[in-house]
This record gives sequence, structure tokens and C-alpha cells, in this order.
Amino acid sequence: MTSTGKTPSVPTQLATPTDLKPGEVKAVTAAVNRLIADGFALYVKTKNFHWHVASSHFRDYHLLLDEQADAIFNSIDVLAERIRRIGGTTIRSVSHIGQLQTIKDDNDDFVLPEEMILRLIADNRQLAENQRAAIELCDQNRDTPTGNILQDILDQTEKRIWFLHAVSQGGHSME
Ligand SMILES: [Fe+2]
Repeated sequence: MTSTGKTPSVPTQLATPTDLKPGEVKAVTAAVNRLIADGFALYVKTKNFHWHVASSHFRDYHLLLDEQADAIFNSIDVLAERIRRIGGTTIRSVSHIGQLQTIKDDNDDFVLPEEMILRLIADNRQLAENQRAAIELCDQNRDTPTGNILQDILDQTEKRIWFLHAVSQGGHSME
């Protein structure tokens, strides 16, 4: 920590002034950057399934997964810009995402639609758990705005889980 309130690892030009302490910025930045990396990982996986689903209800799955991918993608920029507002730095590259992501990539050649839904439920549940823990961490580090932003994003994650769970109740049909 320094007397100027900057986190040592952040270049001076990028150290947005903040009344948060360097340790608080560091803790929030680390937690949120992991969430952003997982957002990217889940975005790509959801798009992967959007592109590669094969089912008699193709269009339903295809559209649902596109809506979910859009919501995930939109949350990424909101979180990254929030980190810049408190003087942290965020994701810089695909390899940086790879270092931080906890949601695993999916490179299977073919996945049945029902299995796609189950995998996305598991990943979104993991993301929700981590988002909830990050909200708690923001509270502990006096960063209420980041916590508030995450509450909305967690609500969107829970909406995806709801839709995916509902879809998974229909056997082989989405009707
Ligand atoms: Fe598309």
C-alpha cells in the first residue's frame, strides 16, 4: 500500500482516485475479475451450445441460449468498468481469462440438448455462488456500489437458472 491510495501493481495513469483503501480495491478487483473471467467462459460455452444444439426443438433451444449469452456478455462490461472506476485493472486477453476462469471450457464434439441444459445449470449455479460471495466481500471492503451492481447481475444469473431448470423438466421436449 502507498500513502497515495494507489494499489502498487496498478500503473499511475490507470490508478483512478478513490477513497477506498488499496487493500479494499485489491480484494474487490481480484474477486470481480474472477467473475468476469467466468462470465467470458460461460458466454463462450452458451454460444457454443447455441451454435451446436441439434434437436427437434432446435429453434427454442437456439433462441433461449442466445438470450442467455447476451445477458452474460452485457454483464461483463458493467463489471469491468466498475473495476476501473475504483482504480483496479481488469481483463486484458484470452490468456488472462484462462488464468482466472473457474468455469471449465467445453470442447466436446457433440452434446445432447438435455445434457447442455444440465451443464449450463451447473455452471450458472457455480457463478451464482461466486457472485453471492463477492457481494459479501464487497460489503466487507466498503464497496457498496460494486455490491449493488452484483446484486442485479446475480438476479440475472438466477433467472437463467430458473429458465434452464424449467426447460430440464420437460423430458425431451421443450413444450
Ligand atoms: Fe446466433
